[in-house]
Amino acid sequence: MKYHKPEVYISKEKIAEKVKQLGEEITDHYKGQSLVVVSITNGALIFAADLIRAIDLPLQLDSIMMASYAGTQSSGKVQIRSELKLQLEGQHVLVVDEILDTGRTLHNVKEIFSEMNPASLKFCVLLDKPECRKVDIQADYAGFEIPDEFVIGYGLDYNEFYRNLPYIGIYKPD
Ligand code: IMP
Ligand code: MG
Repeated sequence: MKYHKPEVYISKEKIAEKVKQLGEEITDHYKGQSLVVVSITNGALIFAADLIRAIDLPLQLDSIMMASYAGTQSSGKVQIRSELKLQLEGQHVLVVDEILDTGRTLHNVKEIFSEMNPASLKFCVLLDKPECRKVDIQADYAGFEIPDEFVIGYGLDYNEFYRNLPYIGIYKPD
């Protein structure tokens, strides 16, 4: 595989500003309550790490591993590859993912987590590709709406590479 650093599509400054804004909205919404944040790894790792530090609430963090992509194509099958450590029953749960694409991942998470009887269940994503939706689901908090492009950086990968780019770029195969 050739490794090219992409041009900046969403700069690290723009991301930081958006994360701060999302953190403030979430803090306002759950005021007086505590929150369980569940990040979908590996992609949401970087976003969740920044987002939880922008949320000023008593908060517990857990993560779940799901995967649906091979290269730049969604495989259509979402697999859960790990278990939660925290109990969700009676808790306000905020699921954090880096991008909402076909919607299959969050749709699956919604079905599984709803059965655990949380007090509430909401979804926060940094990026939303509404044109790509295959199942009916929306994020309660979405940072940036983007067109149907395969993006990398800030946790988003192409075959596990590029997650460490501090900004978001568009992947261009050659
Ligand atoms: P969905 O289940 O199709 O909504 O896809 C969600 C997951 O697919 C995300 O959490 C990402 O891990 C991955 N994904 C979707 N679009 C992209 C992209 O443009 N770049 C990198 N990963 C993506
Ligand atoms: Mg992901």
